[in-house]
Amino acid sequence: MDGLKIEGGKPLRGDIMISGAKNAALPLLCLGLMTSDKLVLKNVPRLADTMLMEGLLRHHGVTVCREGEIVTMQGGATQFDAPYDLVRKMRASVLVLGPLLACYGEARVSLPGGCAIGTRPVDLHIRAMQGLGAVVELADGYIQARASKGLSGGQVVFPMVSVGATENALMASVLARGTSELVNAAREPEIIDLANCLNAMGAKITGHGTDTIKIEGVTDLHGATHSVISDRIEAGTFAIAAAMTDGDLTLHHSQGHNLDALLMVLRETGATVTESDNAIRIVANGRPAAADITTDPFPGFPTDLQAQFMAMMCIARGSSRISETIFENRFMHVPELLRMGADIQVDGGVAMVRGRDALSPAPVMATDLRASVSLVLAALTVTGTSQISRIYHLDRGYSKLEEKLGKCGATLQRVKAA
Ligand code: EPZ
Repeated sequence: MDGLKIEGGKPLRGDIMISGAKNAALPLLCLGLMTSDKLVLKNVPRLADTMLMEGLLRHHGVTVCREGEIVTMQGGATQFDAPYDLVRKMRASVLVLGPLLACYGEARVSLPGGCAIGTRPVDLHIRAMQGLGAVVELADGYIQARASKGLSGGQVVFPMVSVGATENALMASVLARGTSELVNAAREPEIIDLANCLNAMGAKITGHGTDTIKIEGVTDLHGATHSVISDRIEAGTFAIAAAMTDGDLTLHHSQGHNLDALLMVLRETGATVTESDNAIRIVANGRPAAADITTDPFPGFPTDLQAQFMAMMCIARGSSRISETIFENRFMHVPELLRMGADIQVDGGVAMVRGRDALSPAPVMATDLRASVSLVLAALTVTGTSQISRIYHLDRGYSKLEEKLGKCGATLQRVKAA
């Protein structure tokens, strides 16, 4: 398993081209199940996770061709079983459930199992399918769903905000008979992107981006060409990297309005943030001041940036209170940051971080995607050599990370594990 050797202590200065959003691309790829026409997706990042999803779609019989960052799909699905050995590798595989049910009236999808950051149940996905008229059973570790007469529109009320369950319900409802309403729906930009692509394919969706989405069912969907929105979490990751290395980065192809919660906090820590219509520039002003955050569904502070922000608070002036409200075990980066000399105390979902003048280099281990990148950011602030093992986690969500950071003055080298 590869590792990453990092020589830190230098400010990040320059320009980074932000890639397409992993968490928009994954549900968008599932739309290849929903039409036999040609569906062309542009700006699809080359990541381990998107490649896994493309493999799952091929398993379902979809013709999938990738040229650079353009993925072309055609033919629709011919089989409706998503097996454990594919689903267990990536939780987002559960997003084939809604499309398969909507188009073929049946789906057998393995329960995804948990992951490092939590048990990650799918009960809200199942309730949404039932709310649209599907009969769902759990047997042998699989979700077995049927809608032999097709899905019927209805109201789906989510007891808690769920990005994936909103996406599954949205994809299922567009071909249901009659109208549907998703209440307490997720408002993430990735939901808006998915709805925009579905509307380009002939769906009739309104209210996406608010907490109530209305869908008027149609009989079928046709092909389209759609460009994936840019990755706000990648952009946020690099924005934090600039602020914590006394740097100056301009992030291209990124929109500030998708990162308001983070940009507000970065300004509070002392960084100068300027936004244009397609770029964000972050200029640090010395060592950042501490600030508190609480993660929340969009438009609140993204849970996917919590680990990165914690790494920054480890070298901040003052103390920071970090509250993680979305996942029950998303502090896996804490033990590794402690190895680098951080001062962090965890009590349930709250971490108290006392900023230190500097961290120290140490060998550390990546555990999940965002924890991994928080260790990269911490190592970039440290004078000396740090080594991060198990960086396959990074490859799931960050394309060309070494190249992008290397062009801005960082020294990162991929090494074979000893
Ligand atoms: C999506 O995961 C993202 N993944 C996650 O990003 C992100 O952290 C999360 O949304 C929250 O923003 C993709 O889009 C592929 P949820 P998802 O359903 O849909 C609970 C990354 O690093 N829940 O909004 O799985 C769940 O356990 C990844 O890129 C249920 O209880 O998240 C969690 O506590 C990590 N039952 C909360 O809801 C359900 O049926 C929010 O989860 C579904 C979810």
